[in-house]
Amino acid sequence: MNKKSTSKIKLFFSGLLSRAEENRDFFTDIAVEFKSGTKPFPAKITYDNGFILNYQAVKRTLSSDELAEFIPAEASKYDSARIIYSERGARIVIEADDRRVNMRHEDVTAAEPQTSVVQSGREYVVNPALASELLTELGILAKNGKIKNDKIRKYNQIDYFVELMKGVLDEIGERDEYIVFDAACGKSYLSFVLNFYMRDILKKKCRFIGVDYSETVITASKRTAEKLGYSNMEFIKANLTNYTPAVKPDIVVSLHACDTATDMALALGIRSGAKAIVSVPCCHKDILKQYSYEPFAAITKHGILKARLADTLTDGLRAAYLEGAGYKVSMIEYISPLETPKI
Ligand SMILES: C[S@@+](CC[C@H](N)C(=O)[O-])C[C@H]1O[C@@H](n2cnc3c(N)ncnc32)[C@H](O)[C@@H]1O
Repeated sequence: MNKKSTSKIKLFFSGLLSRAEENRDFFTDIAVEFKSGTKPFPAKITYDNGFILNYQAVKRTLSSDELAEFIPAEASKYDSARIIYSERGARIVIEADDRRVNMRHEDVTAAEPQTSVVQSGREYVVNPALASELLTELGILAKNGKIKNDKIRKYNQIDYFVELMKGVLDEIGERDEYIVFDAACGKSYLSFVLNFYMRDILKKKCRFIGVDYSETVITASKRTAEKLGYSNMEFIKANLTNYTPAVKPDIVVSLHACDTATDMALALGIRSGAKAIVSVPCCHKDILKQYSYEPFAAITKHGILKARLADTLTDGLRAAYLEGAGYKVSMIEYISPLETPKI
């Protein structure tokens, strides 16, 4: 393949490697097929504490930079190449020869049944096939039993949250009944799936209380709970700022509570004495509006960098505050910034 095509492969392929690293939890593999005439020469790239290339019967661990050099260099020895990047809910295909290099996204839900499938070496904790009644009611599964295209990311987020909860439940130990408080619950997808996991899969007695200040989402959540017969779930319209739950929650969860609503959720967890607080923040605007730091002026003059620093300051202060209140804090990358852009 000529130099023009291999340079373009390098550009596209490097982007895929970055995506694989950022979406490590959802990444499955990259299948490469070089061709000389009609003869295929396959290679497979997986991830396990580093990229593993399986090519010409040899397995090697390579860094992303080494792979980004290696694959285009190999492509230059062949007539054409097809590179298929797969992650849960997405497939991207690069096709290249001397005349053109194309990259396209393929509709995965149309091609693959979404049952209990293992993807990226990670099985859904709440298998969509098992939870089909619930997920259909939530509008996540289509009538054909597959996750709707526009809901795949949301479901990935929720299912990953549920996976994190496994560790939290182990940490807080057995209870007669678990009280879970969902702060800024929205339509309560998270609570419904978590309830299914705790009640129907783990067979634990649990009670859910969702709070949001939007009447519409509270009405919708109540209706869903009623339809599904979940009498252990209640939803309350209230502002988190000054809300104290009538019963002490064991766990406070909050998923994408906008801006300072995350702080309200953390504060509610602290003042109600929750054993565990699991929070995935959303946009960080409050500190961004307020801070300036002259020694970093050369950096913060770039709006995007100023915003990233504000994210770090906001989450850093939150962690310090929680530690001050006696909590043991773990910070993890929940999901790629590409999936849920913050700025
Ligand atoms: C982006 S949505 C997330 C909803 C849900 N947790 C999810 O992940 O689908 C943010 C929610 O926060 C609610 N919210 C924001 N500030 C709030 C506050 N101070 N008190 C109660 N709810 C609030 C909004 O009404 C909205 O439903």
